[in-house]
Amino acid sequence: MECLEGKSEPAGTAICDGVIELTNKRVVLAYSGGLDTSVAVKWLSVELGYEVVALSVDVGQGGDFDELKKRAMDAGAYAVEVVDAKDEFAENFVQDAIIANALYEGKYPLVSSLSRPVIARHLVDAATRYEATAVAHGCTGKGNDQVRFEVSIRALNPSLEIVAPVRTWGFSREDSIDYAEKHDVKINATKQKLYSIDQNLWGRAIECGEMEDPWASPPVGVYEMTIPTRTDRTEVIVSFEAGKPVSVDGNRMSLAEIIGHLNLLVGSFGVGRIDMVENRRVGIKSREVYEAPAAIALIAAHSDLEDICLERELAHEKRRIQNEWARLVYDGMWFSPLKQSYDAFLKHSQKFVTGDVRLILEGNSLHVEGRRSPNSLYDYSLATYDSADLFRHADAEGFVRIFGLGVQTWAAKQGTLS
Ligand code: ARG
Repeated sequence: MECLEGKSEPAGTAICDGVIELTNKRVVLAYSGGLDTSVAVKWLSVELGYEVVALSVDVGQGGDFDELKKRAMDAGAYAVEVVDAKDEFAENFVQDAIIANALYEGKYPLVSSLSRPVIARHLVDAATRYEATAVAHGCTGKGNDQVRFEVSIRALNPSLEIVAPVRTWGFSREDSIDYAEKHDVKINATKQKLYSIDQNLWGRAIECGEMEDPWASPPVGVYEMTIPTRTDRTEVIVSFEAGKPVSVDGNRMSLAEIIGHLNLLVGSFGVGRIDMVENRRVGIKSREVYEAPAAIALIAAHSDLEDICLERELAHEKRRIQNEWARLVYDGMWFSPLKQSYDAFLKHSQKFVTGDVRLILEGNSLHVEGRRSPNSLYDYSLATYDSADLFRHADAEGFVRIFGLGVQTWAAKQGTLS
C-alpha cells in the first residue's frame, strides 16, 4: 500500500486509506555553516526525527554560500536555501537604526540585534512554504540572540514550535566535535575555538578568548574591518534625504552600497572599533569588541545633520526615545507594539532631515567638520555677534526675569542659597 504525503496537509501528516497518519515532521533551522548548526542539522534529524530545512539568510556576513549549501546537505539536511536579504536588511532594518542614531548603552550600533529579526522573518516565511511546524536556531542559553529570535518568531507566528538544540543538548565543544565524527558530519573545526564572531553589513561582533578578561587588550588578529592602512586627511561628504543616506561625495548609491563603501574607506583609517562591557538582556555583563566603521560614520553624520534640522524640543524628546528604541531592539523587541509606536515618532521626525555632512578622516579618527541643509534652522542673523544681528536684545531682559521668577520668589521667602 502506498501512502502519499498529503499536499494540503501540514508536513508531518499523510493520508493513508483515508486515515491521517504521522510521517516526518519538518523544522526550518537558521543555518550558519558553523560547527553548532551543522551538528544541529544531524541532531534534529537523529534525536528528534525532523526533516531539516537549513536556511541561511545573507545579511552581508560574507563567506562561500555554495560551500555552505554543500555542508548542510552533507550533514543530512532535507533541503537548503540561501536568501539574499542584504537590501532588505539595509533598507528596512539598518535604515531605522540610522534614523534612531541607535547606540545601545551609548556605544554599540546593534549589529547582531538588527539582523535577528530579519532572519526570524525569513525563518517564519520558510516554515510556511515548507509546511514546517517548527523553527530552530543555534543560540546558546546565555546570550541575547535566543531572545531576539524567539520573541520575533512568536510575534510573527505564535503557533510555531521553537527548538533550540544548542541550548538543549548541553554539549561542550568537544562533545559537538565527537558527535559530528560519530555521525559522519563534515566539519572544519578544531577542539579549541577561540572566538565567537557574528558579522553582517552593519559590522562585526567578536567575543570570547582573551577578551573574557575585561582588562586584557584584544589580540590584534581579531580585527578585520578596521586595519589601519592610511592616515592622510580625507574629506567625505554624506548626503541625506529625509533621514536616509543617499549619496557619498555626490555618487548616488543604494544604502547597502553606501555602507559597503564606508566600511572600506572608514575602516582603512582604523576607525570604528568599539571595546566595551555591556549589559546583556539575560543579566550577564559581557566584554564585547565590535568593528562598525560605516555605522559609526553614518550615525555621527546623521545626528549632526539633525542638529541643524530639528527644533529644540523635538531634538531633546527624540534623544530620549531613540535611547529607548535602541534598548528595545537590543532586547529583541523589534516586532512589538511599543517599538512600532516609537518608529512612527522617529519616522515623522525625519521629514526635514535633508542635507550634507562633511566628515574628516585623519590619523585614526573621524569627526564632523561641516553641515548644511535647505531646511537648516541655523539663522546667521540670530546667531551672529556682528552688525547683521537681528536678535531683539531688549526682549531678553523680561524673558530671563520671568524664566527665573519661581527661583527668585522661593529665595525671597526661604532665604538665599549659599
Ligand atoms: N553582544 C552582542 C549582542 O548581543 C553581539 C552578539 C553576537 N553574537 C555572537 N554569536 N557572537 O548583540
